[in-house]
Amino acid sequence: MDYKKNPWPMMLSFLFICLSLNNHLSLGADTISANQPLSGDQTISSNGGNFELGFFKPGNSSRSNYYIGMWYKKVSLKTIVWVANRETPVSDRSSSVLRISDGNLVLFNESQIPIWSTNLSSTSSGPLEAVLLDDGNFVLRDGSANSSKLLWQSFDNPTHTWLPGGKIAYNNKTKQNMHLISWKNSENPAPGLFALELQQNTSSYIIRWNKSVPYWNSGPWDGKIFSWVPEMRANYIYNFSYVSNENESYFTYSLYDPSIISRFVMDISGQIQQLSWLESTKQWNLFWSQPRTQCEVYAFCGPFGICNQQSLPFCSCLKGFQVSSSNSWNLSDFSAGCARKTSLRCGNDSLANGNRDKFLEMPNMKLPDHPQTVAVESSSECESTCLNNCSCTAYAYGDRCSIWIGDLLNLQQLTSTDTNGGTLYLKLAASELPSSRNSKAIIIGVVLGSVVGIAILVGLIAFVIFRRRRGAIGTAKAVEGSLVAFGYRDLQNVTKNFSEKLGGGGFGSVFKGILPDSTVIAVKKLESISQGEKQFRTEVSTIGTIQHVNLVRLRGFCSEGTKKLLVYDYMPNGSLDSHLFHEKNSGVLDWKTRYQIALGTARGLVYLHEKCRDCIIHCDIKPENILLDAELCPKVADFGLAKLVGREFSRVLTTMRGTRGYLAPEWISGVAITAKADVYSYGMMLFEFVSGRRNSEPSADGKIRFFPTWAASLITQGGDVLSLLDPRLEGNADVEEVTRICRLACWCIQDDETHRPPMGQVVQILEGVLGVNLAPVPRSLQVFVDDQEHIIFFTESSSSQSSQARSNNSNASSQSNNSVSSSLKS
Ligand SMILES: *[C@@H]1O[C@H](CO)[C@@H](O)[C@H](O)[C@H]1NC(C)=O
Ligand SMILES: *[C@@H]1O[C@H](CO)[C@@H](O)[C@H](O)[C@H]1NC(C)=O
Ligand SMILES: *[C@@H]1O[C@H](CO)[C@@H](O)[C@H](O)[C@H]1NC(C)=O
Ligand SMILES: *[C@@H]1O[C@H](CO)[C@@H](O)[C@H](O)[C@H]1NC(C)=O
Ligand SMILES: *[C@@H]1O[C@H](CO)[C@@H](O)[C@H](O)[C@H]1NC(C)=O
Ligand SMILES: *[C@@H]1O[C@H](CO)[C@@H](O)[C@H](O)[C@H]1NC(C)=O
Ligand SMILES: *[C@@H]1O[C@H](CO)[C@@H](O)[C@H](O)[C@H]1NC(C)=O
Ligand SMILES: *[C@@H]1O[C@H](CO)[C@@H](O)[C@H](O)[C@H]1NC(C)=O
Ligand SMILES: *[C@@H]1O[C@H](CO)[C@@H](O)[C@H](O)[C@H]1NC(C)=O
Ligand SMILES: *[C@@H]1O[C@H](CO)[C@@H](O)[C@H](O)[C@H]1NC(C)=O
Ligand SMILES: *[C@@H]1O[C@H](CO)[C@@H](O)[C@H](O)[C@H]1NC(C)=O
Ligand SMILES: *[C@@H]1O[C@H](CO)[C@@H](O)[C@H](O)[C@H]1NC(C)=O
Repeated sequence: MDYKKNPWPMMLSFLFICLSLNNHLSLGADTISANQPLSGDQTISSNGGNFELGFFKPGNSSRSNYYIGMWYKKVSLKTIVWVANRETPVSDRSSSVLRISDGNLVLFNESQIPIWSTNLSSTSSGPLEAVLLDDGNFVLRDGSANSSKLLWQSFDNPTHTWLPGGKIAYNNKTKQNMHLISWKNSENPAPGLFALELQQNTSSYIIRWNKSVPYWNSGPWDGKIFSWVPEMRANYIYNFSYVSNENESYFTYSLYDPSIISRFVMDISGQIQQLSWLESTKQWNLFWSQPRTQCEVYAFCGPFGICNQQSLPFCSCLKGFQVSSSNSWNLSDFSAGCARKTSLRCGNDSLANGNRDKFLEMPNMKLPDHPQTVAVESSSECESTCLNNCSCTAYAYGDRCSIWIGDLLNLQQLTSTDTNGGTLYLKLAASELPSSRNSKAIIIGVVLGSVVGIAILVGLIAFVIFRRRRGAIGTAKAVEGSLVAFGYRDLQNVTKNFSEKLGGGGFGSVFKGILPDSTVIAVKKLESISQGEKQFRTEVSTIGTIQHVNLVRLRGFCSEGTKKLLVYDYMPNGSLDSHLFHEKNSGVLDWKTRYQIALGTARGLVYLHEKCRDCIIHCDIKPENILLDAELCPKVADFGLAKLVGREFSRVLTTMRGTRGYLAPEWISGVAITAKADVYSYGMMLFEFVSGRRNSEPSADGKIRFFPTWAASLITQGGDVLSLLDPRLEGNADVEEVTRICRLACWCIQDDETHRPPMGQVVQILEGVLGVNLAPVPRSLQVFVDDQEHIIFFTESSSSQSSQARSNNSNASSQSNNSVSSSLKS
């Protein structure tokens, strides 16, 4: 972008207005023309009513800072997509004005000083008009000519949002990059530290921190997708294209379904995000973001900040440090990082009562960027190297000695299971550290000893009392139907302080517990619950009333402040995935059992979808959520959590590993979810009943990359269904049942939810009451991204097969629609 300002025509603006008054009188509500400026609370709206433009105040700012911006008119949550005067707000909008002036669109502040301009140097002859178009492009053009030649457009000057139809280009003539730049914070649209740009020589997009350090790369455009963004393959929502010619190179996208409201933003989190508006929930649904985790964003928490992917907010300060600017920190801008509470003694230790600086041991850290290697042989030499250098702030000693000079960036606390970290020794003033180990350690030891002693005594007494009250738990506090309100302490006791973990997922871990009456229970500790107390209890009691032989029974719950737990019946045979996928597990599930589990699961879902008072969409059907009792009878677990977890649900779900393979395509398109989303997940799971391995895993010989694609192709071609069967079953299965399940699975995973059968029909098909027709191979099957983010390609033959199926789509889908009414008896 090349802005050249020609100041003197500005001065003639008055004259210009007078001249143009007579020339152009037809005005529209979407237009700023010479005699129709914009000021105060006036706005203009695009022709179709999609966008609106005018002065706005960002976020919840109490300051009176006004900007000219554009937002969605139809989205109830005011969402700014473009800002003119990013860096130069006005405080009084009624005396500020946006108007055509000397061949430019210019914003004048209260003193009538131009503070923002389209900066065009060549003045056009005719009268100009600025028009807000319905795709969100704000254009400056010659109002008299019919030619659609644009002199300036907001699509060429994006701020932080990339709308469909827009582009982030590289201009090969001026050798200039366009940038998509984050806001500084949630109340300041000035350019922040994160910017997306096109790297033309590699035809890839990169995100740079502070216009310098790149921390994310899309990988090169391979003709269809950016190679390190394999998700783009599952492309039935966006129409992507990449253009490169002698003038410019750029990527652009549009939506196949223009009624979907979707935007791409460079967020203040340093992540690029694609969001779709969900009218039913009145919120933006995050559908995709990169880098995938917040802590991968370069210097996100600033100097001496520490990022923790498991906590909210993600950033905190290292011990001995405090937030540098709590104001910007509160506005989600962490870039200022943290400052020392007590400055270092440094070389001054001789003066300072011998209190030399010390090191804080920080295990399990992702070590900071830019280490310097020092050639020393031992950990203590490494320590003294750092201690004796005033600018050294930390060291680590692994296979070698690394020291850090100055600010520490990109520190990250890793989880205990992550082995990629190391131990960092952080230099702090002695007063910031607990007293040294030597003399005081003994005292601490004594104190600790007696504390522990007392604790044991108290524990014993408590135990006696507990024994006496034995049986009281689970009866006395029964509330809301048959549900029991447990105390947190009680659950801590019965689970031996949550020591035996049965499993974990996006919503929390599950622990085994034994009630005083010897009943075994499963206790789920919920995380990321956004609900208030009352709402939580309401939801839980609703879940509590739902009882069916194929649903796990909720026995009770605990709600104490932020501690929210659910107590379920314990299922001795664990979850289905361990039986289906893990070879180590004793026996292979035989076909008959698999079929019964499929049927039972379907019945449980019918109950949820159709028989409860309110329809309950499970939203997370996968083998991990099908539990097996002692008789291998399936019980669907975790139903109702979608409502319980509320707004966070879709975020948790779409970022959860392993779950995505079961998610229906409409999850990501932004439309409201119906019970058919469960049907899709169920269909995906049916394939796993047949193959005995995860859909996302390639076959042992590596030939079959994505089972559903292969199975769907084979079924539609009328191949040998037994070749699809889990080899561990050695062909011991009812061919008719295998065929039925495969056809049913194909039907359940249709892209268009209206083509999928309701669960009631699924049960009837499995019972053999209804037949099932062939369904076409869905488009969404054409590619699949596995757990490790690797893309799994299907074979060429299945590809041509599926495109053929697609071209027959209209026929085939009406056929599948009719397949129930014309029910073939099987
Ligand atoms: C217009 O040019 C001036 C001076 O060169 C510059 O400060 C300003 O940022 C430019 N405006 C825009 C919208 O680029
Ligand atoms: C504004 O305040 C409301 C309520 O305090 C909060 O929910 C919302 O997130 C805030 N918006 C921004 C942009 O900070
Ligand atoms: C208008 O802008 C000019 C130039 O930036 C500035 O000096 C002046 O103080 C502004 N007027 C007001 C009232 O803010
Ligand atoms: C503009 O359109 C009008 C009618 O729509 C036509 O009469 C006129 O010649 C056109 N002018 C130009 C410059 O094309
Ligand atoms: C592409 O250009 C950038 C500078 O703009 C350079 O750093 C990089 O090495 C180039 N990459 C290739 C593959 O030429
Ligand atoms: C960004 O880079 C500029 C120099 O290009 C530097 O002055 C500034 O301090 C940097 N910002 C941060 C937050 O490091
Ligand atoms: C996809 O985009 C290209 C270029 O932007 C356009 O030519 C084509 O018509 C679009 N296809 C559909 C189906 O919208
Ligand atoms: C960009 O322009 C240069 C000449 O300035 C030309 O050699 C090159 O081929 C152009 N790039 C593309 C992708 O056309
Ligand atoms: C490149 O720009 C020139 C001059 O503006 C134009 O004539 C030419 O058609 C453009 N090329 C393409 C491929 O758009
Ligand atoms: C930041 O938020 C905290 C807690 O919400 C509050 O105590 C503090 O005053 C805020 N700081 C500023 C500068 O607004
Ligand atoms: C050393 O201590 C003196 C007095 O306490 C102080 O003025 C000086 O800045 C200190 N030097 C360093 C390098 O910290
Ligand atoms: C501290 O270490 C850095 C990097 O090794 C070096 O450049 C610097 O000179 C050292 N400072 C002192 C005072 O030794």
